Amino acid sequence: MAAKWTLITGASEGLGVEFARIAAAEGRDLILVARQAAKMERLAEDLRARHPIAVEVWPADLGNPEAVETLWRKAALRRHIEIVVNNAGLGANGPFAGRDFDREMSSVMVNVAALTILTKRAVAHMLQQGGGRILNVGSTAGFMPGPNMAVYHATKAYVLSLGEAVAEELRGTPVTVTTLCPGATATNFARSAGMEGITLFTALKPAGAAPVARAGWRAMKAGRRVKVTGPHNWLFSVGPRFVPRAVVPRIAAIFLK
Ligand SMILES: NC(=O)c1ccc[n+]([C@@H]2O[C@H](COP(=O)([O-])OP(=O)(O)OC[C@H]3O[C@@H](n4cnc5c(N)ncnc54)[C@H](OP(=O)(O)O)[C@@H]3O)[C@@H](O)[C@H]2O)c1
Repeated sequence: MAAKWTLITGASEGLGVEFARIAAAEGRDLILVARQAAKMERLAEDLRARHPIAVEVWPADLGNPEAVETLWRKAALRRHIEIVVNNAGLGANGPFAGRDFDREMSSVMVNVAALTILTKRAVAHMLQQGGGRILNVGSTAGFMPGPNMAVYHATKAYVLSLGEAVAEELRGTPVTVTTLCPGATATNFARSAGMEGITLFTALKPAGAAPVARAGWRAMKAGRRVKVTGPHNWLFSVGPRFVPRAVVPRIAAIFLK
């Protein structure tokens, strides 16, 4: 029988590296995807040295939908992809009327477009192969609009909505979609998004990347639809249901200042 592979995007940094470590420890063969090839090569070497697994490094810019389709064709024509972790993502902090439109559009292309393409292709492939699991990394940002991070929050609302809808469509099949919704997590994300000084990252200690990834992985293996990590993040996820809709962005703005 052909080997089963786990494909992880955003595997050069942060949560993606942790997902790769967890999958490797379970003896899974890995395809690592991101732009920074050298970092992924170092990770691959380390994982191969520790575990009897195959690890391939496939550098790709997921901001380019053509590259995403090419990546998937290359993966699925030659392999049985059993798990897809759509983890790559980025944010941009600043007013919507500001100038960082390129980065905002990159976040739409990576967080939304690439994730949609890979989820769509993976669902069809996994149904044909008789099973599989998809783990999409959303955020507590998906539960509320985010003033000064309007595009990022909107992308994560999309990830959550897409994941829950597709999971319902797949009810009763051997394919599951789990949306992991972490809150502030200690990775490169805040620095690259220009969020380091904001209340969300200074008022509460960010969670460690390893426990967040472990919680997401467990939820995926259990076939859960949504996993919010951490008790205060759970409050962020349910709180907006009990507050008038117009007030929710005002509260979110306090944490995003
Ligand atoms: N950290 C947090 O506080 C937090 C909270 C909630 C949700 N999340 C979500 O968690 C996920 C992982 O983020 P992280 O915290 O681990 O951040 P990170 O350390 O900045 O890692 C982001 C990963 O995404 C990849 N990536 C970004 N743009 C890409 C592109 N155009 N093509 C391919 N790969 C790309 C990066 O790889 P390259 O640069 O090598 O391409 C990197 O591996 C994201 O979806 C993020 O939205 C993070």
